Amino acid sequence: MKITVVGAGAVGATCADNIARRALAEELVLLDIREGFAEGKALDITQTSSLLGFDTRVIGVTNDYSKTANSDVAVITSGIPRKPGMTREELIGTNARIVEDVCKNLLAHSPNVIIVVISNPMDTMTYLAMKSTGLPKNRIIGMGGILDSARFKTYIQKELGCSQNDLHAVVIGGHGDTTMIPLTRLATVNGTPISNMLSAETLKQISADTMVGGATLTKLLGTSAWYAPGAAGAALVESIVRNQKKVFPCCVMLEGEYGQNDICLGVPVVIGSNGWEKIIDYKLNADEQEAFNKSADAVRAMNKVLDELVQA
Ligand code: LAC
Repeated sequence: MKITVVGAGAVGATCADNIARRALAEELVLLDIREGFAEGKALDITQTSSLLGFDTRVIGVTNDYSKTANSDVAVITSGIPRKPGMTREELIGTNARIVEDVCKNLLAHSPNVIIVVISNPMDTMTYLAMKSTGLPKNRIIGMGGILDSARFKTYIQKELGCSQNDLHAVVIGGHGDTTMIPLTRLATVNGTPISNMLSAETLKQISADTMVGGATLTKLLGTSAWYAPGAAGAALVESIVRNQKKVFPCCVMLEGEYGQNDICLGVPVVIGSNGWEKIIDYKLNADEQEAFNKSADAVRAMNKVLDELVQA
């Protein structure tokens, strides 16, 4: 297995660190446009090898895509992160050009690669990756829902005092402060609905906190978060390279599923060695479906901005 992470910023480097620690690949390439930066991060991660007990070879390169040749999986984290007060959507102009360029360079050397998109605004960047590469849809996966679900679990845990590992809780829809949909109705602790244990008001608060989970961190940190985003990216990569068939909410191309077409949006999918392999139908109730449709409308409007940018 060979894995490439493009972008050695905080999210990319943390993702690479997690991939190395879990020994998900024989070789891990970390690429960045900043001279020497990825080399430095790769060397630092490499120096944890004997401390943490992994043997993955971690190689850092400055924009040399030939070193990424024959990657099985590539994670794209490139682009600018948001600053306090910014939405993910405001990054579109800058990041679209970067992500399109990265996709082209990756495919030139790894025609069979599975692409994981983390760059924001993630739903639109995933759509861009679909449209610009023409790859089979199962090989383009946007990572947002896994992270949002992890944040959802953190807020549920705070109320219940349970282990986060006993929770099943999923966020679908867009990866935006107003487009994500924490599915409180379907969230359970060891199979028991959390709605049996928490008031409607508390559930609403958990949901609201989850939706602005990223913005809360951006405000505290002065920039976008990285530990959970990096770990979430690595969890997705792990299910691909180990063919685990885990069900994760991921941003994928919809063709009629969940009532939507020609849009990349977060839905539960099975993740294995072929990328995303199957969409799971959670049978949303009317309110959830309405929220999903609204989320799709907002993401579709962003995709339209993208189309205009590409034409300009
Ligand atoms: C976040 C960024 C990675 O939610 O989208 O932290």
